[in-house]
Parts: sequence; C-alpha cells; structure tokens
Amino acid sequence: MKKNLLLMENLSREDIEKIIDISMMLKTLHNLGFRKTEYLKNKFFLLLFEKPSTRTRLSFEVAITQLGGRFSTLNASDTQLSRGEPVKDFARVVSRYVDGIIARVKKHESLEELARYSAVPVINALSDREHPVQVLADVMTIKEKLGHVSGVNLAFIGDGQDNVLNSLMIAAGLLGINLYIATPRELWPNENYLLKAIKLAELSGGSINITTDPIEAVKEADIIYTDVWVSMGREEEADYRRKILRPYQVNMELLMKSNRKPLVMHCLPAIRGEEITDEVIESPQSIVFDQAENRLHVQKGLLYYLFSSHS
Ligand code: CP
Ligand code: NVA
Repeated sequence: MKKNLLLMENLSREDIEKIIDISMMLKTLHNLGFRKTEYLKNKFFLLLFEKPSTRTRLSFEVAITQLGGRFSTLNASDTQLSRGEPVKDFARVVSRYVDGIIARVKKHESLEELARYSAVPVINALSDREHPVQVLADVMTIKEKLGHVSGVNLAFIGDGQDNVLNSLMIAAGLLGINLYIATPRELWPNENYLLKAIKLAELSGGSINITTDPIEAVKEADIIYTDVWVSMGREEEADYRRKILRPYQVNMELLMKSNRKPLVMHCLPAIRGEEITDEVIESPQSIVFDQAENRLHVQKGLLYYLFSSHS
C-alpha cells in the first residue's frame, strides 16, 4: 500500500519504534563493515530539492545506494517546475518512472499536491511546516544516548514556530517525551500542533509545556535542543527574529542552569553565535555530530520500512 511521510502524524508510535529498531540494526551492521545490501534492489528514487541541503540530500543518496537502490537528484530550478509546469503534472509523470519521491519544498502545500497526484510514496525531506525525517534521527539519537525515549525531559529553546519543533512536538506526544518549549510570546507555537501534541501526550504519558523563560525550560532537562532563528524562507524576518530571540541563545551559562548536565542537540546547520555558541557545540555535552550521523542510519531504516519487500 502507498504510504506517504509528509507529517510526523503519518506515523504511529509503533511505526516509529519499528523504524528506529531497524535503523539501529542497520547501523550495527554498518559499523561491522556490512554496508551493502539489496533491500532496495531495482528500486529507483527521485530526490527533489527546492531549497539547499547538505545532510538530507547526501544521507538519502548514500542510504539508497547502500540498500542497493538507485536515485536521481533534481534541483527544482533545473526542472520544468521552474518554468511553471504544474506540480500535479510533474507528479503524475515522474511517479510513472520512479518507486518513491523524496522532496524538500518551500511550501508544504506543494508536497501535499505532489502526494495527491503521485502514484508512489512521497517523503517530506523538509517543508516550511515539518521535518519528520530529521526528528526520526533525533529520536534514534535520544534512544542511543539515554537508553530510552519515553519519560525523557527535552527542552527546545528558540523559535516556537520552527518546522523541526513541529515534528518534535508530535513525536513527543506520540512517544511519551516531556517537552519543554521556551520561546518568546511573538513566536508561540502553532495552536493546531500544540493541541494535537497535548492530546497525544495525554495518551502516551508525555507532556507538552511552554514558557517564555529558557531557564525554567532547562531546569530538569536531559536534553537541550535548538535550531536556527531564521529558517530557510524566513529571511525577510531575520532582523526581527534575531532581536526577539537573543535571550534564547543556548550558551554555557544556560547549560549551567540545568540540574542534570543535559546533552545538547541541533539539527544543523547551526549559526554559531546566534542560537548556539561555538563553545556549546564543541563541548562534551554536545551530541550534534552523532545526531547528524544518524540521519544516514535512519534514512536506511525508513526506506527499508516503506519500500523493502522484506519489511
Ligand atoms: N538538518 C538538515 O536537514 O540538514 P540539511 O539542510 O543540510 O539537509
Ligand atoms: N529550521 C531549519 C532547518 C534546517 C535543516 C530550516 O527550515 O531552515
């Protein structure tokens, strides 16, 4: 059956747990030197990018290759989309060629249209609304580092309207994470996400908490997470955001306010000196590069889960 991953809510708790288990198994094999499999033999993928990418693009390319599949990466600007070809035409044509589409788009609606008209599954490689594949890698990283996910205290400091945060909120609700968001009033999280996450948390035993005070959010944090203040596509608001988010920088002083020696996560790319300091990224508490590495392993787990005839 065709299963898209456009939003974190497209996955159940069970789906996420299975994907993480497969990813961890594939990582173990990878580290033992068993990198090449044939789980995606004869499968061809389109990677489509409307925005820049380092990690997402390369980790998907390596993942597909290591699983025995093939791909083509297209920058949207090189396709007829840039000359006005409707997304619905694009989707109907390319999905007759390929087995899956992985797309990073400016507007989430483009992804929805792509999925509506595509005959094959569509995976969100980041939109203005969510970044679910990032958060799958984040959950895997938390499980690896702390041994469990449910009951973890995770403080997100910064932009309350961040796309990664939206996916994190839903994952927290699904998986029983206690999420503490610290953000200025002006950037309060989207109400739909909040309500959905709170409802899910009621079932999973997690909690979603919001404050304007970063110190309050990190007090009992096992993990502190942040992302850039100016996401791709929000460049016009850059000055305003830098101003109101200045008190939300993740620096050594903030880390010291926590009772728990928290680990620090960032989806990267980071702007050192803005949302996070160089000192924090380079500190022993930072796990950002292990987190980035897990993008590869989780892409493999996800692709196996969605596309392999073995799953
Ligand atoms: N974290 C992340 O998605 O990085 P890229 O923008 O480099 O893909
Ligand atoms: N929130 C960031 C994430 C980059 C991976 C952005 O959308 O630019």
